[in-house]
Amino acid sequence: MSQNLTYEAVDKIYDEKGKNPVHALKDVSFTINAGELFCLLGPSGCGKTTLLRSTAGLETISSGRMMYGDVDISTIPPYKRNIGMVFQSFALYPHMTIFENVAYGLRVRKTPDAEVKRKVTEVMELVGLQEELKRNPSPTGLSGGQQQRVAIARALVYDPDILLLDEPLANLDAKLRRYMRAEIRRIQKATNITTIFVTHDQEEAMAVGDRLAVLKKGVVEQIGTSDELYTQPRNAFVSNFIGKMNFLESTIAGLDGDMVHCKINGTELVVPVEKCRCHMDRLAAGHEVLVGARPEMLVVSKEPVARSVRGTVKIIQHLGQFVRYEVDLDRTISETIFEIDMPGMVRGVHEHDDVYISVKPDVAALFSKEGRE
Ligand SMILES: Nc1ncnc2c1ncn2[C@@H]1O[C@H](COP(=O)(O)OP(=O)(O)OP(=O)(O)O)[C@@H](O)[C@H]1O
Ligand SMILES: [Mg+2]
Repeated sequence: MSQNLTYEAVDKIYDEKGKNPVHALKDVSFTINAGELFCLLGPSGCGKTTLLRSTAGLETISSGRMMYGDVDISTIPPYKRNIGMVFQSFALYPHMTIFENVAYGLRVRKTPDAEVKRKVTEVMELVGLQEELKRNPSPTGLSGGQQQRVAIARALVYDPDILLLDEPLANLDAKLRRYMRAEIRRIQKATNITTIFVTHDQEEAMAVGDRLAVLKKGVVEQIGTSDELYTQPRNAFVSNFIGKMNFLESTIAGLDGDMVHCKINGTELVVPVEKCRCHMDRLAAGHEVLVGARPEMLVVSKEPVARSVRGTVKIIQHLGQFVRYEVDLDRTISETIFEIDMPGMVRGVHEHDDVYISVKPDVAALFSKEGRE
């Protein structure tokens, strides 16, 4: 039976007493439920690998505790933690057959031969490599996706309590990645092992995970389901990491009941208070905030419409189900190019044309400017 995995105020400082300490994990506290497929997402260097290696016991945490069920695993040596790990570079042993690659963890545990054969066969079936196992080549005779499966089989073969996957799909091409991420979900659900899947690809994290945590500079910014993070991001950083968020620089004009009035250049926009993702004291008149709108919340028009801002179309991309307009706005209201997804081509609008951008009613959110990057 799987158990919960809980991090309690975990800190990791590399080179703590040296000249250049790196504070890689800061007060990390959360619980991964028994049997959950949990994704860790965040930009390069945010501490994802550090958290996995600490969980596996390959790094010693500086303070805090890690609990598996009611057992504190923080000080248990790595070989006694019973954790399966697929590393960021999942290097298989090229001089061994795939059978021996997968059997490795069992051989180390001095498992009898008959049991090794049974377990390897079972786990290779689970990852869909029964035919390859019959041929039993060296890993160099397999495709990238097949090698990836061998790496997963190798981590699963000794029935680990926890499975840790560090960017397991990073070396695969886009199509195979999409296929393998569904496979990983299937395999994880079939085994029901408490699993952490690390990626810096938000689409992958949203597609694979039961829940995800967004990490930034060693700090957990938010935890939730894909839908919670997409529709209720806690701050500007999360909103623009889980999907695209366009930001307009704006100043609060005042509060009117449940509506916040914001000024964007000469235009005024109203945002419901419930869509404010910043502290209420940010809503006093004169405060600078960001109005956030996802690409599908905006409209491109050829002619000015009420509460619109003007911009210039840079690129139009037809992406099948929608058309993406990249629009340059006045730099005083947006630092970055806006992305707007329209259900079809907007008649009479071409690249380099001036257009007007408006926000659909009651969908924009307000964010504090702090910690946006
Ligand atoms: N052995 C080490 N000694 C000192 N600093 C380290 C060590 N390993 C990692 N770091 C630093 O700790 C921070 C977190 O690194 P980590 O490898 O956990 O990031 P990551 O989120 O896995 O990044 P990536 O997406 O690039 O794999 C980084 O600033 C990194 O430079
Ligand atoms: Mg890493």
